[in-house]
Amino acid sequence: MPLNTVDINRQRGHFSDREQLWLFGYGSLIFKVDFPFRDCRPAYIRDWSRRFWQGSHDHRGTPEAPGRVATLIREPGACCVGMAYLITPAVFEHLDMREKNGYLRFSTPLTFTDDRAPDQEDGLVYIATEDNAAFLGPAAEEDIARHIARAQGPSGPNRDYLLNLADALRTLGADDEHVFAIERYLR
Ligand code: SIN
Repeated sequence: MPLNTVDINRQRGHFSDREQLWLFGYGSLIFKVDFPFRDCRPAYIRDWSRRFWQGSHDHRGTPEAPGRVATLIREPGACCVGMAYLITPAVFEHLDMREKNGYLRFSTPLTFTDDRAPDQEDGLVYIATEDNAAFLGPAAEEDIARHIARAQGPSGPNRDYLLNLADALRTLGADDEHVFAIERYLR
């Protein structure tokens, strides 16, 4: 897979024909909302775990010294808590650029955790799969924290990504041992 996924995502076209759609955010899309949306609701998706296993060449690191950012890894029975945004397909142009370093659009069932109806919808999520060129893979959480502590890129220190995400997850009431363990080592 090429390092830049913009063209692949355009061809995949998931939900491009809809008037509006739900986007599920689990990483920086939770705490850095630089796109227009019509509504937002806390939500989770099943059978995926958030892991700091994706390299970042363009936001929290550089090609020579990539940072580590979140992606989702398939794990039956797991539950990943995040934030869902109701967007229009016009926002794809911005999102595909922002997520171009290995992330592909996938469709997913999502469940909302507020008390509004409906409580389920199909949505879209950006996932950096293991076959993308920037994928770094597993490491001990202490080593991930060390890596994050020294990385930085055009969007700022890698540390801010992890700490902002940990704070946002606490606000959402999410119990994410992986993220909170890295946070403890970092702090
Ligand atoms: C997401 O936040 O949903 C995707 C990963 C990222 O941009 O951090």
